[in-house]
Amino acid sequence: MDLEIVSGVRVARGTEALRAWVLSCRKDGKSIGFVPTMGALHAGHLSLVAHSQAHTDVTVLSIFVNPLQFRPGEDLQAYPRPFARDCQLAAEAGVDVVFAPSAESMYPQGFQTHVEVENLTTGLCGAVRPGHFRGVTTVVCKLLNLVMADVAVFGEKDWQQLQAIARMARDLDHPTRILGAPIVREMNGLAMSSRNVYLSDQQRQAAGAIFASLQDAQLLAQKGETDVSVLEARVRSSITAAGGRVDYATICHSESLLPLTQLLDPARIIVAAYFGKARLLDNCAL
Ligand code: PAF
Repeated sequence: MDLEIVSGVRVARGTEALRAWVLSCRKDGKSIGFVPTMGALHAGHLSLVAHSQAHTDVTVLSIFVNPLQFRPGEDLQAYPRPFARDCQLAAEAGVDVVFAPSAESMYPQGFQTHVEVENLTTGLCGAVRPGHFRGVTTVVCKLLNLVMADVAVFGEKDWQQLQAIARMARDLDHPTRILGAPIVREMNGLAMSSRNVYLSDQQRQAAGAIFASLQDAQLLAQKGETDVSVLEARVRSSITAAGGRVDYATICHSESLLPLTQLLDPARIIVAAYFGKARLLDNCAL
């Protein structure tokens, strides 16, 4: 199959080319793994590729900055798009095909169908970014239909996104198995994110306080603190003291994402905080 080669990796720009490649893999009896991304690849994405490769014969990585999941005034235009470098990293990681569709091909004129997961997306990021998860689940639903993978891998940094996608896949009978992969961190504990490029060196250092505050909460919980408001307040004040602006720091049930008042198993603390203009996410089990 003749696909364009960019920086050493095959690239399918259109859905026809992708489908033809996927079908030829299927014909050869190969299992397919899928890693959806918005590009600006970092070690976190590459760890998702490694997870996919551990489960399947070939891996498709999509790069698509999905306009549907950005709200007016968010960073859609500014979002980094280093396409040739991404392709080089994908090639080095052994990705078999990069799927890089245009917005016009994903959302042609007349597009009017959306996928919405209800309860899981109303709180946390859903409360401060209305419509965001509808954009995410719509594009992921389309991508799953196009790639027809055996497994798709998502990072646990976006915990609410992972829960919403897993729910959608179950509810809509997607045959693809949804896997979560652990957060990859910088030396100071900052969770890797494409948006970390917005941080100055000083902010990047200071943002290490997010993970430190989560570890502190974990330790307190292990020592027997069960009052959720005490734990949440500790996290908030540590991040604020480091110069961050906390959007939310919430302890909730790991799967239903319902806020808890007392620590119950399985609980998770989920944080969104700004350092400068970068909105950073992190979470850990308690
Ligand atoms: O996590 C992301 O990068 C995006 O939300 C995703 C899953 C690729 C959908 O656009």
